[in-house]
Amino acid sequence: MTHYELMFKRRSVRHFKPEPLDEATLAEVRKVIKRLRPLYRSVRTKIEIVDDIGAEPMFEVMPPHFIVFKSVIKDTTNMNAGYMLEQLSLELSNMGIGSCMIAKQRPSQEIIDAIPLPKGEYILMMGIGRPNMNLLRESTDKFDRMPKEQFLRKGEYTEAIEACRLAPSSHNKQPWCMINDGTVLHIFSKKVSDPPLPIYKTLDSIDIGILLYHVVVSSREAGFDGIQEFVFEGSKQAPEGYYYITSII
Ligand SMILES: Cc1cc2nc3c(=O)[nH]c(=O)nc-3n(C[C@H](O)[C@H](O)[C@H](O)COP(=O)(O)O)c2cc1C
Repeated sequence: MTHYELMFKRRSVRHFKPEPLDEATLAEVRKVIKRLRPLYRSVRTKIEIVDDIGAEPMFEVMPPHFIVFKSVIKDTTNMNAGYMLEQLSLELSNMGIGSCMIAKQRPSQEIIDAIPLPKGEYILMMGIGRPNMNLLRESTDKFDRMPKEQFLRKGEYTEAIEACRLAPSSHNKQPWCMINDGTVLHIFSKKVSDPPLPIYKTLDSIDIGILLYHVVVSSREAGFDGIQEFVFEGSKQAPEGYYYITSII
C-alpha cells in the first residue's frame, strides 16, 4: 500500500508480540530509516533501534524494540521529528510492523548518550514490533477525530483533506485546522494560552510535523506540488485561537 492509502487505515499499536524482529527485518528497518526524507534538511538527526530503554514498562507487553530519535535543536526540530517519525511509522505498517510513538516516558540518559550525535538531544521514541492486534483499521469510521467542519475551516472537503484529518497526535489532541484555498492549503496550529516551553520542545509542534507529512503526501495525490511556503494571504486568515504555520502549494 502507498503511504497515502495507509493514512486511511493506520493506528497506534500498543499490544505487541514479545518476540524480537528477525535480523533480516531489522536490517530492512535500518534501510528505511536511512531513506527517510526530512522536512528540513538543515536539521541533523540520528535515529537508532534499541532493545532496552532502561526505563519502566509503559505497555502490558513491552515492544521488543524502540526507535530512539535524537536531533540537533532548532525551532524546526520537533516538526521535523514528527514528519520523519510518521513517515517511518507508515512504512513500518507496510512491512506488517506495529508502532506507537511514546512521549510519556524517555530512555535512560545512558541509552540516550550512547547514540552519537554531536550537540544532539533526545526528542521522542517509538515502540515497534509485530502486532498482537489488528495492525490496520477497517474503515475511517474507526478513527476518533475532530468533526470535518472543525478541521477544515474553509474550502472544499476532499479525500486528500480527509487523509490529513486522520493524522495521529499526542493524546489525540489534534491541535490544528486547515483552509483549502483551491490552489493552496493553509495549515494552522492551536494557540496555547500560556506556552510553558519553547516551540521546539512542545508536543504540539511534533503533531504539526505529523500533520505536514499527511498534507505533503495527500496534496501530491491531489495534484499539488507539496511544497511548503509562507503565503501572506494564508497568514491573514488564521482562525481565532490559531497560529498560522505554513501553506502547501
Ligand atoms: C507525539 C506523540 C506522542 C505520543 N505519546 C504516547 C504515549 O506516551 N503513550 C501512548 O500510549 N500513546 C502515545 N501516542 C499515541 C497517541 O495517543 C495516538 O496517536 C492518538 O491517540 C490517536 O490514535 P491512533 O494513533 O491510534 O490513530 C503519542 C502520539 C504522538 C503523535
